[in-house]
Amino acid sequence: MAEFNGGGHWHLDAVFYQVYVRGFKDSSRDGNGDLRGLIEKLDYIESLGVSCLWLMPIFPSPLRDDGYDVSDFLEIDPSIGSLADFQQLTEAAHQRDLRVITDLVISHTSDQHHWFQKARQGPDSPFFSYYVWSDSDDRYQEAQVIFSDTEHSNWAWDHQAKRYYWHRFFSHQPDLNYDHLPVQEAILDVMRFWLDLGIDGFRVDAVPYLFEREGTNCENLPETHAFCRRMRRLIDGEYPGRILLAEANQWPDDLVAYFGAGDEFHMAFNFPLMPRLFLALRREDNRPLIDCIETLPAIPADCQWATFLRNHDELTLEMVTDADRDYLTSEYARDPRMMLNVGIRRRLAPLLDHDRRRIELLYSLLLSLPGAPVIYYGDEIGMGDNIYLGDRNGVRTPMQWSDDRNAGFSSADPSRLYKPVLTDPLDNYQTVNVAAQLRSPASLLHWLRHQLRLRSSQPVFSRGEIRFVQVSCRSIVAFTRSHRGTTALLVHNLAATVQPVHLELEAYAGLRPVHFSGNHGFPQIQAAPYFLNLAPYESLWFLLEPA
Ligand code: NOJ
Repeated sequence: MAEFNGGGHWHLDAVFYQVYVRGFKDSSRDGNGDLRGLIEKLDYIESLGVSCLWLMPIFPSPLRDDGYDVSDFLEIDPSIGSLADFQQLTEAAHQRDLRVITDLVISHTSDQHHWFQKARQGPDSPFFSYYVWSDSDDRYQEAQVIFSDTEHSNWAWDHQAKRYYWHRFFSHQPDLNYDHLPVQEAILDVMRFWLDLGIDGFRVDAVPYLFEREGTNCENLPETHAFCRRMRRLIDGEYPGRILLAEANQWPDDLVAYFGAGDEFHMAFNFPLMPRLFLALRREDNRPLIDCIETLPAIPADCQWATFLRNHDELTLEMVTDADRDYLTSEYARDPRMMLNVGIRRRLAPLLDHDRRRIELLYSLLLSLPGAPVIYYGDEIGMGDNIYLGDRNGVRTPMQWSDDRNAGFSSADPSRLYKPVLTDPLDNYQTVNVAAQLRSPASLLHWLRHQLRLRSSQPVFSRGEIRFVQVSCRSIVAFTRSHRGTTALLVHNLAATVQPVHLELEAYAGLRPVHFSGNHGFPQIQAAPYFLNLAPYESLWFLLEPA
């Protein structure tokens, strides 16, 4: 096991598959997906061509924030399995060369965690200082309320402690007090516990919010970075080859700071890029995308972005201008029910009106732009959502495996399922499911598997330098990725109409674009603009080879 984890820099070339264990496959017929069900589906996951699973929280929890409200860091939630199941999962995954990371929720606990239950007893409790208490609710006024649709303040009154406690998310999620060193030690021990069990790393939840300081917005403080370096030292010193992936929904400079000088996180989600992919597509304009990538500060060697289109949360619009937010909202959330906090709670396919061409276009950008792609379970088959379920539950419905009972997800009585399967005309599981798409060579599932295979056949995609190519019209985004003498040329049409385009490829004069499908028919590049015609939403992937 240690040997498996030890392979260095695997994260640079990784493709992640994000799994909501409760929603993936139920092996015990209780209506909840579980770890054993996930083990049954490892062949499927392997066949996708991904290399690492990211498991959303698997720890015991009252499930008021789907497991991001942890009540015990050192156990598995009984509804999804046991520690033995977890070990079996990591071993079975490793046998298939798949790595496994899990969420590590470090900024807060559930109010049901025994630390908080004891802390509430008052200052004499050894756990009192594990949390942030105050006699008044007016400190740290500059900190924003993140779950603005539910919470009005970051302080909540605890009637037992007779004090206010600090929370950045739901009021049932008290924030841990990182100024109290035993908290830091306890979290490092939690990491050791899972690393000893063979986990390959962590997606560290809500990183920016670990410390509070008056007169600041209590995000990205130097003290927070100091703790991130402690986590990294633990990895480097005791568990080399494992990785830390930061969830920090921040503007570029603050976000890039989480890579440190290569001594904090190995990876961070590219939050600025994600909404700009949707913006560029809807506006049929390459500028939002190019500006974003060209202005992102460089990241240290051996670090990597995690890029994504959708995940289990709302499509967050915090990292765009007010005008762009209004535009994205009006274009992608036509029904107010689709909004939550500052984001749009929809899956990929419905966001794109189920338009296969646009879905493929965004995937093509995701797979060819710099970063390690993260694919959200179900989005590989274009699963829909249910905006009539509360909070973010509409994008966490059961995985649609087949047209069998409960979409093949569970053989429990339908009314027992943790959430109903999708039955709407467009998204119903009888039509949209893995089994059907496996039978159809033209399905999205087959297309994406093929595209992932192409991507992994060429290290330019994960390691290559990017250079945008000058184009004669803004609805085309073209760039090269180059690595060790190999150059790929990627051309995408963001428009709903056919587009003729001239590409400034003079620097590659004498080479010939060879389409990844093996088609050699494209003319040689000359010392003059190169002409292409692209169909609506078309993507072309070429290697530039000697003529
Ligand atoms: C970020 C997670 O992605 C989200 O699902 C969760 O609600 C918050 N952190 C609070 O833990």
